[in-house]
Amino acid sequence: MAKLSQNKDEPAPRARATKRSPMSSTEYVGLAVFFLLPFVLQALWSGTIQQWLSPNLQSHLSPGSKTSTDTVDPSSPALLKACESHTYSTEIVSLDPLVIYINNFTTLLEAEALVKLGTPNFTDSYIARANGQNQKVTGRTSQSAPLDDDHPLVACIISRARRFMGSSLLPSEPFSLPQLVRYYSSQRYDLHTDFWPSHQLMKDGSGRRYNRPASFFVFLRANCTGGGTWFPEVKVLDQDRGEEIESVFKGKVSRATERGKEKGIVFEPVVGSAVYWVNIDGRGVGDRRLIHAGLAVGEGEKIGMNIWPRKFY
Ligand SMILES: *[C@@H]1O[C@H](CO)[C@@H](O)[C@H](O)[C@H]1NC(C)=O
Ligand SMILES: *[C@@H]1O[C@H](CO)[C@@H](O)[C@H](O)[C@H]1NC(C)=O
Ligand SMILES: *[C@@H]1O[C@H](CO)[C@@H](O)[C@H](O)[C@H]1NC(C)=O
Repeated sequence: MAKLSQNKDEPAPRARATKRSPMSSTEYVGLAVFFLLPFVLQALWSGTIQQWLSPNLQSHLSPGSKTSTDTVDPSSPALLKACESHTYSTEIVSLDPLVIYINNFTTLLEAEALVKLGTPNFTDSYIARANGQNQKVTGRTSQSAPLDDDHPLVACIISRARRFMGSSLLPSEPFSLPQLVRYYSSQRYDLHTDFWPSHQLMKDGSGRRYNRPASFFVFLRANCTGGGTWFPEVKVLDQDRGEEIESVFKGKVSRATERGKEKGIVFEPVVGSAVYWVNIDGRGVGDRRLIHAGLAVGEGEKIGMNIWPRKFY
């Protein structure tokens, strides 16, 4: 053995010995790979292994999002572990009002896992009116589903949102249940704000009033044409420099026009991307410039997730 490590050119005694047997160790390995290959491919295809791969590789393996929803396990230990250490990157879109674009707020697998968790609970969307009543209206034709915040994946995503907000949300201030929203062809949500004009009375009898100080909108499925989120009153930092926003945000944000006139910006659906904006200023006053619409989906399907922190006023 000592000799073997000193002189690499000399054939190993074991290799010589195995030559006499009907198969070399290389052949055994080859045979094992040959028989195991179908199982490995099957595991890759079904998504068992995919969850440990990078999101880029994942998307190559399962271009059809339906395939991965069927097999993704929202409670998989590997997914939950990866969730804890996930990283994303941010770009400021507008300082005043504050609008931030978050790249990779979720991974592709987290996005599909969240869709899977909410899918059984989809019902027609309603609008929460200022008088505390919920109402179905023609301007909102999507379906919504609440996500259970006791589920570890949902809890992980909420704590990600909380860390993002830093000191702008007190530890005692909660999040409401995240809501999935699903839009099929021609479905839309007309211009609206996410905050209520007057703070809402808590139903717990405490007399406290609350509102939504900020919003996260996360694109979880974007297998569609159209379906962007339009903010007509948000101007990009450097409106005068024309086309630059398109090159800076590479197809994620574009400038909108209405009847030939420039009118704010549109966030295009990109899976995993989130838009964050601040609804209410330091004095507790809602900012109407954050009015926005979910533009009609042309073809296909869009699923988003609303994450709303709650502040007491
Ligand atoms: C994505 O949308 C296209 C066109 O609407 C459709 O043909 C395709 O089946 C969809 N794929 C998935 C995975 O839903
Ligand atoms: C998002 O994540 C993917 C996969 O990890 C990575 O390739 C890409 O660069 C990320 N995008 C941004 C803008 O950070
Ligand atoms: C989803 O629906 C199930 C079955 O009706 C129900 O038990 C569950 O509480 C719902 N989840 C949420 C978050 O409302």
